[in-house]
Amino acid sequence: MSSQDRVIIFDTTLRDGEQSPGASMTRDEKLRIARQLERMRVDVIEAGFAIASVGDFESVQAIARTIKESTVCSLSRALDADIDRAGEALRDANSGRIHTFIATSPIHMKYKLQMEPDQVVESAVRAVKRARNLIDDVEFSLEDASRSEMDFMCRIIERVIDAGARTINIPDTVGYAVPQQFGQVIGELIQRIPNADKAIFSVHCHNDLGLAVANSLAAVSAGARQVECTINGLGERAGNASLEEIVMALRTRRDVMGVETSIDTTQIVPASRLVSSVTGFPVQPNKAIVGANAFAHESGIHQDGVLKHRETYEIMTAQDVGWNTNRMVLGKHSGRAAFRARLEELGTSFATDAELNTAFTRFKELADKKHEIFDEDLMALVSDARAEAASERYKLSSLTVTSQTGETPVANLKVMVDGTEFTGESDGSGPVDACFKAIEQIAQSGANLQIYSVNAVTQGTDSQGEVTVRLEKAGRIVNGLGADTDIIIASAKAYLHALNMLDANIQKAHPQV
Ligand code: KIV
Ligand code: ZN
Repeated sequence: MSSQDRVIIFDTTLRDGEQSPGASMTRDEKLRIARQLERMRVDVIEAGFAIASVGDFESVQAIARTIKESTVCSLSRALDADIDRAGEALRDANSGRIHTFIATSPIHMKYKLQMEPDQVVESAVRAVKRARNLIDDVEFSLEDASRSEMDFMCRIIERVIDAGARTINIPDTVGYAVPQQFGQVIGELIQRIPNADKAIFSVHCHNDLGLAVANSLAAVSAGARQVECTINGLGERAGNASLEEIVMALRTRRDVMGVETSIDTTQIVPASRLVSSVTGFPVQPNKAIVGANAFAHESGIHQDGVLKHRETYEIMTAQDVGWNTNRMVLGKHSGRAAFRARLEELGTSFATDAELNTAFTRFKELADKKHEIFDEDLMALVSDARAEAASERYKLSSLTVTSQTGETPVANLKVMVDGTEFTGESDGSGPVDACFKAIEQIAQSGANLQIYSVNAVTQGTDSQGEVTVRLEKAGRIVNGLGADTDIIIASAKAYLHALNMLDANIQKAHPQV
């Protein structure tokens, strides 16, 4: 593959994806995802925004120290302190990249930065030079490029390439672009900038109009050779271009697109599941490539066609993207080694034997209730065990709910708060409502419930329910997770997990604010 035929896949699930409200991840969760991205042969992993918080710095550093095959990148504003912090976090990387950015649209320069265009150019050049003193691989982004003026973009890009930027990223920060016009912008930039051949042009599209993937593909047709994207399209507001859609569109329509990626597509579905279970953001069933229905044929005519000749209705195979035909993996008699090995294949490893033992005990309990254990069960069970282990303050001791036709449901529960047991009792419009009110009687958190969702982890009525509870308090949003074959217990656990996360009160800076 020549560099002209190859599109670099830059995954920003751990940075822009994490900017999605409620999607914050711990260092260990980020490491698990980074390992899966490496297994999938992602070219560049944007591991975080090192200066945002100590936690972010440590995550970028841990990923830089662990990942060997992919380039590991940290975001930084065009500020000395940001760049130095990014460089420090990446010091031990096998292959590291500093990604620095500044806004270039009139509206951002005037109101957000309160800087003149000349000052923006000088800051950009200074930032790129400073980054190049720390590392060879430097990317520069023009934030809000899709609302920036062409002449100004040409001017700043030419200068930052001269200063040493190897990748020039053109973000559609607010999801404003439309494909044909965005493609033209990319083509014109590449054609007009005299030193354009010294850099790779990249795009980073947000999905506010549902056009992120279409815009990215239009940019590739116009000469972009890096696409920034996220697993499941996670990201600020409506999200980023989804990695799985970009990669499979380039592969399936190679006849038109004429380019390839290095992605091992069979790792796509495991990556999607991992990101969904870590963040608690379920994947909609009709989501392209990774939705549960993406390869399911419901109508009789379609089923008949697929049975006669698969390609009548399928343009890719389920196996190509990592859907296993038989996903039953473990059962009641499976041992600890098989349990650990399967989880490692799914991208999860245990930091300590104690962690493995706790998860294995959970697995045995689940196997007693449910005969067939699928990959999804394992991932839900591990997330749930980790959420509980991370729960410092509140822990569920017991729960009784009575629910009967014609009667108001009542929940009685006991919760350990800082080691002391408290009892709560409440009725509610349904058993979950009663349960949450009983918890609030104890916690008195004053948090607002924003989302309550239950996702059946597998098929069948013995499935575990994976519950996401999103709470908001004083502008801070967290997602709590809980999994159990009893969805009321899963709901209580998810609510308590969210309270524990609110309690942790992690402060971090947002790069674009
Ligand atoms: O959307 C955006 O503009 C970004 C940049 C920081 C690349 O995320
Ligand atoms: Zn972005």
